[in-house]
Amino acid sequence: MSAEEPVALITGTSRGLGRELANHLASSGWRVVGVARSAQSAAPGVRVFKGDISDEGDLGDLFRSIGRIEGRLDAAINNAAISDASLVAITRSAALESALKTNLMAPFEVAKQSMRLFGRSRPSRIINISSVHVELATVGTGAYSVSKAGLEQLTRVLARELRQTRTTVNAIQLGYLDGLGMAERATAETRNWVLARSAVSEAVPVDSVLHLVDFLLSRRSAYLTGQVIAIGGV
Ligand SMILES: NC(=O)c1ccc[n+]([C@@H]2O[C@H](COP(=O)([O-])OP(=O)(O)OC[C@H]3O[C@@H](n4cnc5c(N)ncnc54)[C@H](OP(=O)(O)O)[C@@H]3O)[C@@H](O)[C@H]2O)c1
Repeated sequence: MSAEEPVALITGTSRGLGRELANHLASSGWRVVGVARSAQSAAPGVRVFKGDISDEGDLGDLFRSIGRIEGRLDAAINNAAISDASLVAITRSAALESALKTNLMAPFEVAKQSMRLFGRSRPSRIINISSVHVELATVGTGAYSVSKAGLEQLTRVLARELRQTRTTVNAIQLGYLDGLGMAERATAETRNWVLARSAVSEAVPVDSVLHLVDFLLSRRSAYLTGQVIAIGGV
């Protein structure tokens, strides 16, 4: 491994989209640091940190290890999230708190700590993974889509705060992925409801998301920031 290779932090790499992203970037010349609560197998080029991003202590340890072992950071992808279907009327405050901690507060903290490791003279990127449920205000996604709406607003505000740096901040508002992650656990009724209201009539192949991430990570995307880009969405 060369110290010249860019380093990406991806949260939630034990399965689903995060795992695909980690393997893809590792095979595209990135050094990748992945984090998740459960043990995970990783592709060559992915260094796995076992920890809970909603825990301040774990996040501190993660960033200290990136500083010590990698010595640099070039991109942070806030991918990890939790989702529990529940009507607002019966959502427990503990479930709301967990969703906000994992899906919003942790990405906020990841962004803050990443900025300290980004190099001033190098381009750096923050990518936040959001959801079509924000746009559709889908019934039963209260805690989840409120947390993702916050993540989209963080994207817009932070992009402006970083206007004099070489860091871009963007969000991907994902429609259902084709047979991957949370999409597998959603009911057929919800999936069909979302698809019927989306600009694309099929679930999104993961390769399209990898393509968009490559585009946002590219040096040539330096002038694209503060955007929420829907893929397969509305
Ligand atoms: N799949 C879809 O169709 C779809 C659609 C729209 C948006 N999205 C978004 O895409 C992203 C990836 O979703 P996915 O479908 O791949 O989800 P997934 O299969 O449930 O994977 C979520 C990942 O996040 C990790 N994670 C969750 N809580 C964590 C915590 N507190 N600390 C560390 N890691 C944690 C999980 O690992 P551990 O459990 O091991 O910690 C897992 O690796 C999410 O932001 C999701 O909201 C997905």
